[in-house]
Order: sequence, then C-alpha cells, then structure tokens
Amino acid sequence: MIVAIDGPAASGKGTLAKRVAQHYGLPHLDTGLLYRAVGAARLGAGGDLDDVAAAVAVARTLDLAAFDEEALKAGPVGEGASRVAAIPEVRSALLKLQQDFARQPGGAVLDGRDIGTVIAPDAEVKIFVTATPEARAERRLRELLERGESVTLIEVLADIRRRDERDAGRGAAPLKRAPDAALLDNTHLDKEMSWLEALAIVERRRAEIGL
Ligand code: C5P
Repeated sequence: MIVAIDGPAASGKGTLAKRVAQHYGLPHLDTGLLYRAVGAARLGAGGDLDDVAAAVAVARTLDLAAFDEEALKAGPVGEGASRVAAIPEVRSALLKLQQDFARQPGGAVLDGRDIGTVIAPDAEVKIFVTATPEARAERRLRELLERGESVTLIEVLADIRRRDERDAGRGAAPLKRAPDAALLDNTHLDKEMSWLEALAIVERRRAEIGL
C-alpha cells in the first residue's frame, strides 16, 4: 500500500505520516528533507539559491543515510528549501529516488507537497492535510521555541504565508490537493484527533479497495 500525504508547511503531515507508517509497519520518507538538504547545502556553501546547476549537482548526490534531521528542520532552512524546490531541474533530479522509495515491495508512506499528484499518482491512499495559516504558525512557533530558536509568531506566520504562496504558485509540481485525495482539515483538532481522523481515512480506503 502506498500512502501519499500532502499539505502545506506545519500542517502536521509529517507527524501523521510517521504514525501511519508505524501503525502499518511501512517505511516512511519525509520528502521535505530532500529539498531541505539541497537548500542547506547551498546555503552552507554560501551559495546562490538560484544557481540551477549547483543545486542540481547537490540533488543528484544526496545521501539519505547521512541526513541530520535535526539540523535540516531548523527554521531558516525551510525558506531555502522552498526556493530550490521551485527549480524544475531540482525536482526532476529528485524524482527517481522518491518513486523508487514509493514503489518498494510492500509499499511506503511519503509526505510532501506533490506525492499524490506527481510522485505517486497511483497511491492507494491519498490524504491532503491542512489547517489555517494562523493555526499552523502557532504550532510551528511552539516547535521552534522548544528547539531554542528565538522567533516571534509574526515572523513564523510571515514565513508560512511566503512558503504557501511560493509552493502553491510555482509552475513545477505546485502544492495542490489531488482530486482523489481525502481532505483532513485539522485547524480545530488536537494531535490525537487528527491521527484518529487520518486512521479512519486510511481504513475506509482500504475497505473500499479490499486491502
Ligand atoms: O515539508 P517541509 O516544510 O519540510 O518542506 C520544505 C520545503 O520543501 C517546502 O516549503 C516545499 O517548498 C518543498 N517541498 C516540495 N515538495 C515536496 C516536499 C517539500 O516542494 N514533496
């Protein structure tokens, strides 16, 4: 079973994807980490985020096993990730890795922006997770403060709005709900309720297709 979970920044899709993967014993790929790794490498090299050839070279040689998830999750890396993610050649360079992960025997859970639309349009289960920008900003602020970063709600909300706009407005694989994806709006749901809703969606779909 392939489970595709898409949604905007800080919608909680990563947490849900991890839990779905754990529940069904499936491998999980947070595809945002791929774009974050490319963005971080370019920022680390003091580099220009619009340098297509350099970003593609990084994307082609990513080593998933060497990812420092903690460092990649840092606030400023998200903006860099969203910049390199708008480059079609970077997306193409990361396509096979993601499709191979999705198509491994037994299936997988992937979360991102274009899993249900581009990476695995044939996924058995598709969920589009969202919440208002304000609700997402509050959650992301809590996370960043817990990590010891010094930011304000206004800054986090501005970052989320900017990334939403860039992710949804780009020509290459824009953030959008696949027509056959179930919508999970968790603006008014806590983590547990959101998980129960996701589980109900997966179970309903499994029953529908006889899995
Ligand atoms: O999900 P996360 O916030 O970690 O993703 C970081 C950035 O990577 C996003 O803002 C988005 O621009 C990009 N991304 C993408 N396609 C994906 C996953 C992430 O464009 N499948």
